[in-house]
Amino acid sequence: MKTSLLKFIFILTAVFYSAATYAENGYDLWLRKGPAKPVKVVVSGKKSAILDAAKQELTEFWQGTPNATIQLVVKADKSLKTDGFKINGNVITAGNDAGVLYGVYDMLRRMASGQSTDNVLSNPSYQRRVLNHWDNPTGNIEHGFAGKSIFWRNEKDSVTVNAGDLSRWKDYARLNASIGINGAVINNVNAQPMMLSAPYLKKYAAIAAAVRPYGMKIYMAPNFASPIRQGGLKTADPLDPEVIKYWQAKAKEIYALIPDFGGFLIKANSEGQPGPQDYKRTHVDGANMLADALKPYGGIVMWRAFVYAPNDPDRAKQAVQEFMPFDGQFRDNVIIQVKNGPVDFQPREPFSPLFGAMKKTSVMPEFQIMQEYLGQAKHLVFLSTMWEECLKSDTYQMGAGSTVGKVTDGSVYPQKYTAIAGVSNIGLDSNWTAHPFAAANWYAFGRLGWDNTLTSAQIADEWLKLTFAPVTDEGKAAMAGKNWDAGFLAPVKKMMLDSREAAVNYMMPLGLHHQFSAYDHYGPGSWYAPARTRADWTPPYYHKADKQGIGFNRTETGTDAVSQYHEPLSSTFSSLENVPEMYLLWFQHVPWTYKMKSGRTLWDELCIKYDTGVKQVRQFQVVWDMAQPFVDKERFENVQSRLRIHARDAQVWKDGSILYFQTFSGMPIPYEVERPV
Ligand code: GCU
Repeated sequence: MKTSLLKFIFILTAVFYSAATYAENGYDLWLRKGPAKPVKVVVSGKKSAILDAAKQELTEFWQGTPNATIQLVVKADKSLKTDGFKINGNVITAGNDAGVLYGVYDMLRRMASGQSTDNVLSNPSYQRRVLNHWDNPTGNIEHGFAGKSIFWRNEKDSVTVNAGDLSRWKDYARLNASIGINGAVINNVNAQPMMLSAPYLKKYAAIAAAVRPYGMKIYMAPNFASPIRQGGLKTADPLDPEVIKYWQAKAKEIYALIPDFGGFLIKANSEGQPGPQDYKRTHVDGANMLADALKPYGGIVMWRAFVYAPNDPDRAKQAVQEFMPFDGQFRDNVIIQVKNGPVDFQPREPFSPLFGAMKKTSVMPEFQIMQEYLGQAKHLVFLSTMWEECLKSDTYQMGAGSTVGKVTDGSVYPQKYTAIAGVSNIGLDSNWTAHPFAAANWYAFGRLGWDNTLTSAQIADEWLKLTFAPVTDEGKAAMAGKNWDAGFLAPVKKMMLDSREAAVNYMMPLGLHHQFSAYDHYGPGSWYAPARTRADWTPPYYHKADKQGIGFNRTETGTDAVSQYHEPLSSTFSSLENVPEMYLLWFQHVPWTYKMKSGRTLWDELCIKYDTGVKQVRQFQVVWDMAQPFVDKERFENVQSRLRIHARDAQVWKDGSILYFQTFSGMPIPYEVERPV
């Protein structure tokens, strides 16, 4: 009698638990904490804030054998680069303190995602792995979709620091350090000049102090015209002695407050912003002058190559035209920061031809984590596959195998400094990135910056395990008896890995690009061409549809952008038969009736791509609905409601684009495509 009563209670409890969804607010992202097991940590190295942080993280997160002893060792080792580490069983060795911290996070990650902790040797691909925040002193974030800035409040009160700020910055730094990110430019390019004034510099120093124990450095993006607007000079001419003095004094002032300040990020002579060309000087004049001011302190200048002038027949060619003539003339502490593609963070672009072409200049890739052109925080799009595609693209610049990754990480060309930048998607929202899956993009950026050969499948696998696998007692009880791997991990991982291609399909298939409406960069607008707007800010400039066909002729008979690529790519891209279909309309103007590899006409193929994209997103909804038993209520519903918007808007993309392009092709929509409404 007694046993059966117990059994009854047990079953009742089990039923209760499996029906219950546990609570998670999403704030901890991939650093979720279960009840830690006791662990002993022995540190051999000089006491430091970073080593203290490493020890604390291990103590708070340890899930391995209770009472294990973990040794953290700082010592020189020829196989280790700065920040690199070794893990052997219970021993983590690194050449510097930050390396130990990265080793600790890696050990915890490996244990949580079921990977071995033996014979691990890990060195970062890039020395500087830097987030770029497009945060303004008003607290607004340019193209920010997750609330206001975590750094700046509003112009009246941007410089104060409160306890809430400090704890958020600490968590921000922990999340970054756990994936290897070691720097952040914490204000938008072309900062309001006031950001160089003393009260703002103090605020930078406070942020630098909060993130320093996690190995992070702070950088700034000053306005090139600051000598005028902040310093009261008459000019910002980089060769003017007063201007040079201004920047030298500014560097001195900054380093007195922030001894480990990282350096400057500059957007000059781009989209109407000031720069050296305003004074008939060059990018070299501007970048080198700033580099000289920072050099005594070890600072670097990240000089963006995102430049294009209005009225040019091909925007995609301009960065190469403007920068190649200066190859070899930049100081060794200047790095040219190049967006992955030649236009602007589009759903798909071929890699920028500047990669590998600049052989005597340091070059760094710039990715955009915030999904400005990829559905913002509404669409579920895992960007890792896009960045992997870029990093693994072969530039052929030094023979086969000169991938974008290798020509930027120092393995093909000697570079004193190597770096990678990601435009952040972080804001004050309680889960940092608004869409729970947008955090996977932050995670992926960090992981690829650390190791540019990782696969997106591995990154997705880790992220899902760290973000959704049960860790609390409550979560474990809710998951008891359920097959988490088959029911959740496998289908959700597949959804993530398919998601970027789905976005390309419903937005801009077959090499189309920049087909957005107006300035929000969200919905479709292939037809958008108001009379007084710059041509290169309107979609028809890029699709060039007419009665004959569609696509941008960048071959020798067009703008000849193909010639900016190294052979065999220039020949491949200029050949209608050989150009990969994913880049077809990027490089070629193609007749509507052209036969594709599938045997269909270009028109039919285009329609089917749009339609496939919509169907993929609807399938994501099914996958997510089936994942409900494995996810806490808050995150489940958050993703579910965003997927509804995603599916609806994917259909708007398909319908609008097909109906518009049909006015040129005049051809019927293939029967298997859902009728546009
Ligand atoms: C895009 C974006 C701008 C941004 C620019 C940049 O064009 O829409 O808002 O300023 O990129 O990278 O500087």
